Amino acid sequence: MRVLVLGSGGREHALVWKLAQSPSLSALFVAPGNPGMERLATRLEQSPTDGAAIVAVAKRERIDLVVVGPEAPLVAGVADDLRAAGVPVFGPSAAAARVEGSKAFAKEIMQAARVPTAEARVFDDLEAAAQAAAAAGPIVVKADGLAAGKGVVVADSGAEAAEAVRALGRLPAGKKVLLEERLSGPELSVMALCDGERALLLPPSQDHKRLLEDDRGPNTGGMGAYAPANLLDAARLEAVRRDVMLPTLKELARRGTPFRGALYAGLMLTPQGPRVLEFNARLGDPETQVLMMQLADDLLPLLFAAATSSLPERPVEVRAGFSVGVVLAAGGYPDAPRLGSPIAGVEDDGSALVFHAGTTRDAAGQLVVAGGRVLTVCARGPSVVEARRLALARAESISFEGRQLRRDIGAGAPDR
Ligand code: AMP
Ligand code: GLY
Repeated sequence: MRVLVLGSGGREHALVWKLAQSPSLSALFVAPGNPGMERLATRLEQSPTDGAAIVAVAKRERIDLVVVGPEAPLVAGVADDLRAAGVPVFGPSAAAARVEGSKAFAKEIMQAARVPTAEARVFDDLEAAAQAAAAAGPIVVKADGLAAGKGVVVADSGAEAAEAVRALGRLPAGKKVLLEERLSGPELSVMALCDGERALLLPPSQDHKRLLEDDRGPNTGGMGAYAPANLLDAARLEAVRRDVMLPTLKELARRGTPFRGALYAGLMLTPQGPRVLEFNARLGDPETQVLMMQLADDLLPLLFAAATSSLPERPVEVRAGFSVGVVLAAGGYPDAPRLGSPIAGVEDDGSALVFHAGTTRDAAGQLVVAGGRVLTVCARGPSVVEARRLALARAESISFEGRQLRRDIGAGAPDR
């Protein structure tokens, strides 16, 4: 099979790395990709959000499957364009991807499908929202649209919540706001490969969103992840598939917008059971990096089956042990990442995997920093502690100016 991956981050590098091992692969392309993928795939220059250009290159290269990594091409309708042109694609339509793009829409779907989630009210009128918030006490205020991690405020008081409504209302994403019941408990990411009807769960994982150790500092795109995060036993995980994934797929299909791609449920494990905090319409980054290391199954037939509504009714095959991924971020990240510094020490030494994200080559061919999250260093081991030790040892041998990393990824795992 001839496969094209869209995207250029660590998630896409990990997908390319895994797909490259598939016995059924005959050619692998990535648009635009990054320098870490060069030995695994042919890089194309087309923009992943340019539907017409992606369709044209998919036809030219006789692509059998397109795998969409990030949300931007989904929101831009690139999966729709490919389907209309008869190219199988792993990634939902723009209409189905609204489960990520609009928190009000996600809430509407969950309520219609009776998916356990926090109670919420949606407001178009910000003044009414501010008044309701002021009267509410501890509550969570969310902007409806995508806000790059800045759209959620967990408020301790009504006054703080009302202030949050006004602040979020100033964002482009804040034309509508949600006032949501404030829940508590550990958080868990559960992702499923979906074919419109069926859902195959990947191992549960945990991301680490804050920049600094012990969950301090500003929010980021994710500073590291580990899997499996064994916070739910097999029966409770199956309940997430049955009570969250399947009803959501059914409701989206009923509305004529079946979801074919990765559905990501951000869960909070409350004393009353798991509740969905958010959906993403794609795989997580950096979660995918560790999930690909844990996956024993051949990924390519699974993604093709999801794209063509023929997923098998069986669990995915996973490796024993644990994987830990440590993100190396640029100096100044997340506010103002400093770009252009040379990167040393990434050559493969067989001890761990180094997935690229914000890297590029300068005119002299030197690898340099080109984005906030630069690399994800991943290792596998019999325990979380051992996997982290291996990942950190490898990470320490990579250097660039201002390098930031967390040394506590997976420190809160239930079975370290
Ligand atoms: P979201 O983008 O909706 O996942 O929200 C971002 C973060 O805000 C989550 O990872 C939680 O830590 C927190 N959060 C979101 N919704 C709630 C809620 N209903 N109760 C408590 N914390 C929440
Ligand atoms: N790591 C969280 C996300 O990909 O949304």
